[in-house]
Amino acid sequence: MKQLAAALLSSGLLALLAACQPGGQPPPRGDAASPQPASDWRWNLPAGVAPPPVPADNPMTQAKFQLGRYLFYDKRLSGSGRLSCASCHPQAKAFSDSAPLSLGDAGERTLRNSQPLANAAWHQTYTWANYSLTTLERQMDGPLFRTEPVEMGLNDRNLPAVLERLRADPRYAREFARAFPGEASPLTLANIVKAIASFERGIVSFNSRYDRYRAGQARLSAAELRGLKLFNSERGQCYRCHGSPNFDDQMAGASQGQPFHNVGLYNLDGKGGYPFPNRGVLELSGKPSDMGRFRSPSLRNAALTAPYMHDGSVATLEETIRVFAERGRHGGKGGDGRANPYKSPLLDRIRLSARDQADLLAFLKTLSDDKLVNDPALSDPFAAP
Ligand code: HEC
Ligand code: HEC
Repeated sequence: MKQLAAALLSSGLLALLAACQPGGQPPPRGDAASPQPASDWRWNLPAGVAPPPVPADNPMTQAKFQLGRYLFYDKRLSGSGRLSCASCHPQAKAFSDSAPLSLGDAGERTLRNSQPLANAAWHQTYTWANYSLTTLERQMDGPLFRTEPVEMGLNDRNLPAVLERLRADPRYAREFARAFPGEASPLTLANIVKAIASFERGIVSFNSRYDRYRAGQARLSAAELRGLKLFNSERGQCYRCHGSPNFDDQMAGASQGQPFHNVGLYNLDGKGGYPFPNRGVLELSGKPSDMGRFRSPSLRNAALTAPYMHDGSVATLEETIRVFAERGRHGGKGGDGRANPYKSPLLDRIRLSARDQADLLAFLKTLSDDKLVNDPALSDPFAAP
């Protein structure tokens, strides 16, 4: 009885009271219409990198970032209570997974390789091949509710119980109220999504040895410098698709035309076929010319994010570089990717010797950010100290 009264008080009654306040303000609810606290967030970015876009209805705040960190690591947010976002995006692997395909809440494997989340705030589109997913908030529908295959395993049936599970934790009662001030019952799905998206935006990686070199605070070896030069050269072509400060073509202004490319990984039928359901943008657009076209991944922390490519089918960074040097993958069950008719023409311009490839490898390794993978502010708050 006491519980019921408390629930009534916290949801209906307070909302009613708020609605009756002078000024005609609608009752605060966990939706896009609620008033938002001003941002107290400071981006700490190197010269030449502008702050990322942030949705007007979800400004960055310390309180949301802190709350989002808990939720990102909280297994209670999954259907079974056994999985968190971090299960497939662990900090030690720069927030990607070391398995080619990750294990979801219902024991099924994901269709694609889990992506690293550092600097995701800057991406123009989310996931491997979806031009229509343009915010982290919308992307989250996927992991939370996806059914084929299940990731976090939430659905209409278990969502009320999951929300109750979180409401029972006094920390969340306190932290949601702090992060969403003025809302009568702030622990809603919409606010969970806003808080986790704020945490994700705060996973920022610009502190690699390469960044320190750029800032004049570190040296690169001769091999690393040769690799950097090759990366930005006509012989390497890497910069064409990985040329932004984030080493992808996803930052505003950095992409030329459609930022999705076929790099010749497969050619199953001799006509350019990639294996279903991983045929890239084609799965969404239905256009044959989109066969095998995927987003260029950011190469920041690449040495930490093995295995590689959209399906995790390339085990090492050495091998990945070799795929580019050979202008496509060949010799395996996937067919001769070099002759894939949908392959980007840029690949055929690549001219890299064995020594060049070793230099590129040395350069890519300078993009690892040790601070990112050890930063206590991004670590699992539930882990024993
Ligand atoms: C079962 C493993 C799994 C879980 C759990 C999971 N993810 Fe993912 N995540 C993936 C995979 C796989 C992809 C690539 C999806 C694709 O391209 O289809 C991905 C992609 C993403 C991306 C896109 C990154 C980019 O660069 O575009 C974001 C953001 C993300 N996940 C956030 C989350 C959040 C937040 C949660 C928790 C609510 C979560 N993930 C839970 C496996 C997982
Ligand atoms: C035509 C655009 C293009 C060019 C040129 C290009 N890449 Fe890529 N790169 C991509 C795309 C697209 C993917 C993902 C392909 C997939 O999964 O099917 C990728 C994947 C990678 C990966 C794997 C990253 C991960 O997290 O899975 C590495 C490493 C990489 N590229 C390095 C390079 C290097 C080094 C060069 C130059 C020798 C280069 N790329 C040239 C577009 C390009």
